[in-house]
Amino acid sequence: MAILDSPQQIEQNTTVTDRYGRRFRYVRISVTDLCNLSCIYCNPVQGCASSHSHKLSWDDLDFLVDVSVNDLGAEAVRITGGEPTVRPGLAEWVQGIRRFGSLRDVAMTTNGILLKRLGPELCNAGIDRVNISVDTFDRNRFREITRGGSLQRCLEGIDAAIETFSRVKLNCVAVRSIVLEELDHFVRFSDEKKIEVRFIELMPVFDAKQYFHANFIGVEELKTRLASLGYDLKPEGSGPAAGNRTGYGPATTYRVSGTAARLGFISQMSDTKCLYCNKLRLTSDGALKPCLLMPEEIDLQPAIKSRDRDVVARHMRWQFLSRAERYDARTALEEPAGRPMQATGG
Ligand code: 5AD
Repeated sequence: MAILDSPQQIEQNTTVTDRYGRRFRYVRISVTDLCNLSCIYCNPVQGCASSHSHKLSWDDLDFLVDVSVNDLGAEAVRITGGEPTVRPGLAEWVQGIRRFGSLRDVAMTTNGILLKRLGPELCNAGIDRVNISVDTFDRNRFREITRGGSLQRCLEGIDAAIETFSRVKLNCVAVRSIVLEELDHFVRFSDEKKIEVRFIELMPVFDAKQYFHANFIGVEELKTRLASLGYDLKPEGSGPAAGNRTGYGPATTYRVSGTAARLGFISQMSDTKCLYCNKLRLTSDGALKPCLLMPEEIDLQPAIKSRDRDVVARHMRWQFLSRAERYDARTALEEPAGRPMQATGG
């Protein structure tokens, strides 16, 4: 492929594939940077913003999905935050984006706190599946990590989600001291509830670098520890490692022999999956982020507000095509701060 110097040079095709064979399929849209929790690794210093008006309206966000799906060929949307369920109007918006027939998959990442109340409505509106974040099963630790959150409500949200949605996964950010003690509990929970638990390597986002150094644990060490606990992990036929991509995400998944447990590992720090990355991120204030860990972002807010479809599509295409083959996430440790995860949409 020719080297491109500017967005103007890009052909307006419906599908977008870069020179490394990565096709754009998946857009992650943060619908709010507000959250009803304030996890220390997600927003390490500031705590949670209380409230402010949203920079992008639901119509603006609808326009972004429209461009992603119809101009760039996205097949999947993941709704992120902040915490997406705290923004009133989410269900109506989801219902709206389901009018795009080629959108095959609408997923949401949530902390589960409001799912008992909102799960059925969101499912009816057209959310296909949810990933719920829970890093510990100890209520004091939960309160500490989330700065005041209730484990009980999170667990109720998980149960409600299992009843409501056909596909539910748990996200556990691996915090060394916690996860090592609770691995067994996570495997048993996965077995009992028959849902996949994904361990996500801690990332040094924003100013969480110190926290990162004190708490990081890599996927290989987690697997070794699981083996020493007597668990036999059998690789599954999905995920980048197996080369058979059934989902849109970066996890490598395993079954645990003799149980119904399924474990996924997301090793973006120790072994990046850039070669399989098929996504772009849009933040709730209209910034386009081609990579989660790189601080680079492009402000699309004016073009979104003026519904300049061509400009938005060109920038998205250009950013996707301009991504480096690979980004060593460890350089994020030397990079300037960037945004907290809460304002990015993890
Ligand atoms: N490192 C790894 N994962 C993180 N998340 C938020 N902040 C971090 C971080 N510093 C996770 C959340 C959620 C997902 C959106 O991103 O726990 O599961």
